[in-house]
Amino acid sequence: MESFTQPQFAGGPGIENLQIKNMALIKVHDKSFETYLPEEVILKRVKELAAAISRDYQGKRPLFIAILNGSFMFASDLFKQLTIESELCFIKLASYKGLKSSGNVVTAIGLEDDLFGKEVIIVEDIVDTGKTLHNFLPKLMHQQPASLRIAALLHKSEATQFPLSLDYIGFEIPDKFVVGYGLDYDGLGRNLKEIYQLK
Ligand code: IMP
Ligand code: MG
Repeated sequence: MESFTQPQFAGGPGIENLQIKNMALIKVHDKSFETYLPEEVILKRVKELAAAISRDYQGKRPLFIAILNGSFMFASDLFKQLTIESELCFIKLASYKGLKSSGNVVTAIGLEDDLFGKEVIIVEDIVDTGKTLHNFLPKLMHQQPASLRIAALLHKSEATQFPLSLDYIGFEIPDKFVVGYGLDYDGLGRNLKEIYQLK
């Protein structure tokens, strides 16, 4: 594994003082949510992450592996802003034990690329307990990529129970449920341009 210098953007900016101009209350299924991260705030941050990644990977050609479904919007906006040559693929993680989800990730559907010697960047919408990535990373490491980093738009650090090193973080957020910008509540809300927090 090649070592990198610690990226400047790990940690995420303070969002405590964020002024939200057009506060909205919405309903998704039975629950009420309020505006938490407006579209322009998200896009500005995604652009900063893309700039940091483009700088860190200058002269390299990273492969972005975006985890479906939640990360499709983040992956798309991040990828558009990159100024270096890069590849992108989407995978789906399935956790099954018999017919019931066990929470133990066993399969990555759609991972066709051979990762040997590649500079891999995982793209996740949100790291909550950290279990998904904690279970998945050893499988990727097995293929001996040249390097492996994680870009997560959101991180609920209070909720994270599984040790993970996140290299690019959009926003550190409290342990409250959020929807929008790819994230769903029971299937709905992914199309929202903003991120909303459970009220
Ligand atoms: P983890 O394995 O606990 O880190 O959870 C990761 C996955 O849970 C994410 O990729 C999301 O799909 C989902 N998730 C966690 N928190 C939220 C949330 O607040 N809103 C929507 N989905 C969430
Ligand atoms: Mg996800």
